Amino acid sequence: DTIPSRVFWKDLNLKYLGCNKPFYQDAGLSSENEIIGKDDYMMGWRNEAERYRADDLEVIRTGIPRIGYEEPQTTPKGDKIWLRTSKIPLKDEKGTIIGVLGTYEEITQSKKALEEKAKLQLQLLQAQKLESVGRLAGGVAHDFNNKLQVIIGNTALAISDVEPGSSVYNCLEQIHSAALQAADLVKKLLGFARKQVIKPVVLDINTTVSTTISMLRSTLPESIDLLWTPGVNLWKVEMDPVQLDQVITNLVINAKDAITSGKGRITIKTQNVILDDEYCKKHQDIVPGRYVELSIIDNGCGMSRDVLDHLFEPFFTTKDPSRGTGLGLSTVYGIVKQNKGSISVYSEIGKGTAIKIYLPALEEKEEEIKPIKTFVKPKLESGSETILVVEDNEMVLTSVRTILQRLGYKTIFATNAKDALEIIQKYNQKIDLLMTDVVMPDMNGKELYQEAKKICPGLKVLFVSGYAAEILEEDGFTGGHISFLSKPFSDETLANAIRNALES
Ligand SMILES: Nc1ncnc2c1ncn2[C@@H]1O[C@H](COP(=O)(O)OP(=O)(O)OP(=O)(O)O)[C@@H](O)[C@H]1O
Ligand SMILES: [Mg+2]
Repeated sequence: DTIPSRVFWKDLNLKYLGCNKPFYQDAGLSSENEIIGKDDYMMGWRNEAERYRADDLEVIRTGIPRIGYEEPQTTPKGDKIWLRTSKIPLKDEKGTIIGVLGTYEEITQSKKALEEKAKLQLQLLQAQKLESVGRLAGGVAHDFNNKLQVIIGNTALAISDVEPGSSVYNCLEQIHSAALQAADLVKKLLGFARKQVIKPVVLDINTTVSTTISMLRSTLPESIDLLWTPGVNLWKVEMDPVQLDQVITNLVINAKDAITSGKGRITIKTQNVILDDEYCKKHQDIVPGRYVELSIIDNGCGMSRDVLDHLFEPFFTTKDPSRGTGLGLSTVYGIVKQNKGSISVYSEIGKGTAIKIYLPALEEKEEEIKPIKTFVKPKLESGSETILVVEDNEMVLTSVRTILQRLGYKTIFATNAKDALEIIQKYNQKIDLLMTDVVMPDMNGKELYQEAKKICPGLKVLFVSGYAAEILEEDGFTGGHISFLSKPFSDETLANAIRNALES
């Protein structure tokens, strides 16, 4: 009676001969006597009786013990539990089989723990896969940006040299617009790879969601209801509003596409939540704390297990190529991760999908963080200052040179940091601005600027890169005072960035 395992023994007719105390307690009974003479059909677990009977008979028939197998049970109270059971033939002194002896222990907890562990393992694998695809995508996107820079820059220049309406003009215009579309695609990839240049500000998510929704509403058919339930006293988060807008837009468009019957409902909700240890143990990469939850719920077609498994991979789509590129959710994933958030998806085929995003809430005491100046202004800003451009890609260099010269600047060029420093030392007039790539083989942009400033103290700087927000952050380039330009850029963005950097 004192051993924790349950023990029972039955005769050849499978009627109980006896049991220990934990066993009759499991059966919901108060003494061994209430068990003796009964079979499993008369017990609280009568739904399992058929299976128990088959197992018992097998052991009795073959004389071979069955040791340590797992089986489910619905208890007399109705709980679903798991047992590890062993059954051996019961023999008399002469060795004749006279029944069966069984023992089991409950393993529900450890089985659950194992399942949780397997689930976490799977999540980790998924995350690692996305991580490596992200690195690849980020790398490709970076080099691709250089090429696009050349295409966009040169076509813009060429267009201004030819007669509007001529066939060359039209061709150039098409090249230009295709290149801009490609740049847009690259931007999404960078978003996924978390290499997007971002400008985080302190945000009330409700405000951004409201603005985005009011713009999206007109793109949805009338037969789709859009419900918006903003949470009250929502905590603030620190995030780039452009990114938040990207997230909402992608999710709402997916929800719309999922409502294949044309009639349905999309619900958008925000609320404060506290994620506890329990939640964080079950989800990768998230720490307990205060979060703002943004949910987008639709009653559309839902997703199969297979779709769910690949959801966040770039270029995974079930849509016609003309309708989807499969970058929507990869972008969302990248953005959420970049902002140290978490994303979870619940979906049921035929019922709908709920996507919940958790963004870390700002500590209340933290001060508002000023946005980094944005560069976009309507007209091309010109000037006459002297600019030293350091860029290792010859073609990018050429197109930048042409634009800067047209704007009136005096320009000097170097293809690496070493040459640049030499030029600064020898140049006998004032250099106003250093425009440099962040990533260069011999010395990074930041180191170059520090060296250059020693020679030329008042020097201003404009950093350029295909991706670098993170490199800049890692190197301690935080705060709102650095000027930064991401490739590919238009001549207008370049002109404004130069002016901003010069006047900073
Ligand atoms: N709310 C949803 N309901 C049902 N399926 C969805 C939902 N959201 C996404 N999916 C499925 O996930 C796939 C990937 O979505 P994702 O947004 O990444 O790409 P896409 O919508 O196909 O293309 P893109 O967003 O680049 O235009 C979709 O093709 C669709 O099968
Ligand atoms: Mg999409």
